[in-house]
Amino acid sequence: MTRTHNFSVQLDRRHTDSQMHTLFPEDVLPMHLAETDFTTAQPIIDALAARVDHGMFGYVAESEGLALAVQHWMASRFQFPIEPQWVEYSPSVGSSLVFAVQAFTQPGDRVLIQTPVYHAFHSLIDNSGRIKAENPLKLHNGRYEIDFEDLERQLSNPRTKLMLLCNPHNPVGRCWTKLELTRIAELCQRYHVFVIADEVHADLAYEAFTHIPLPAISEEIAQQCMVTVNPSKTFNLAGMRASAAIIPNERWREAFRIALINNKAIDRPVFGIVALEAAYWHGGYYVDQLVAYLEENVRFVGEYLREHIPQIKLIQPEATYLLWLDARELGLPPEQLAPYFMREAKIAFRDGSSCGNGEGFLRMSVGFPIAVLERALHQMKQAVSKLG
Ligand SMILES: Cc1ncc(COP(=O)(O)O)c(C=O)c1O
Repeated sequence: MTRTHNFSVQLDRRHTDSQMHTLFPEDVLPMHLAETDFTTAQPIIDALAARVDHGMFGYVAESEGLALAVQHWMASRFQFPIEPQWVEYSPSVGSSLVFAVQAFTQPGDRVLIQTPVYHAFHSLIDNSGRIKAENPLKLHNGRYEIDFEDLERQLSNPRTKLMLLCNPHNPVGRCWTKLELTRIAELCQRYHVFVIADEVHADLAYEAFTHIPLPAISEEIAQQCMVTVNPSKTFNLAGMRASAAIIPNERWREAFRIALINNKAIDRPVFGIVALEAAYWHGGYYVDQLVAYLEENVRFVGEYLREHIPQIKLIQPEATYLLWLDARELGLPPEQLAPYFMREAKIAFRDGSSCGNGEGFLRMSVGFPIAVLERALHQMKQAVSKLG
């Protein structure tokens, strides 16, 4: 019998030192972060409880368990066969990106991103002494698309050494198609640009869409890319600090591993490994139900906006629980947009401009029980009505 998970449970998280729930005053709904307000899957809780019961929590060996769990997940969810030796542990996707930039590029090299994009892509490049190059995504008939002419221009610059691809894309919600990924792969091969595919949102492709891991596109691009995954977004495990990097090519993998060692980041967290393995071996049912719940949340938000707040347009997502809202019609100066909703609606959104190329947009998480979303939308409506 399939297990069922109740995504409508509301728990008070403030006393757990939740960053999401303590950053703002208690009366503010924290919808700014890529973290759900759902309890994790029962098999993960059971595996952690069993480990706690053992009572000893010393240094953790580099066993093959993590790699086998990742291999199982990639095969069962994405029909992508990988070899266990391709998998490296890393504390988080963010850490993997920082280490990979260190390992694969030199100061002064250009690192390419597609804006608007997850804000940390900007800061990690800016903080690394590398040069940030941008391939702005184009909003066309309510859907973001890649400007391939500009992409080729950026990649053909001989100083461009690395591309950070967000697949599926935070915040615009695109689940890149086989055709798009093939074109990206061909261009990166032609200009010898290594690609890091951040696939942390891969589990959350909606029913009508298919996530394709970048290295599944061709053997050539597999040898010139790395994929970062983490059960954190899907299973609400961000505090566990256990993720994986999948690097098919041995030379690049070794360079990445050296960066992990040099940064003293190779040691595995006892509970993080247990949680990751339980998620990837036993969490499939949870993801199926989560995606269905999220799609219903997105449908609800879309309908509510159309009916009650038509000045705010939803960019229809294909994946992730992050909605990209076009609020330009409200007429507020971009820098006042998020603060306005914080003040008048008591909701924290991520300001679109922090993602680059996103002025006048807001990012809203719908990883919440539906009752919380209903409250949020009502508060938004009240706030917008004050604008006259
Ligand atoms: C695209 C993307 N990559 C990475 C992260 C962070 O993942 P981690 O907690 O593993 O660093 C996020 C979280 O918002 C994200 O959206």
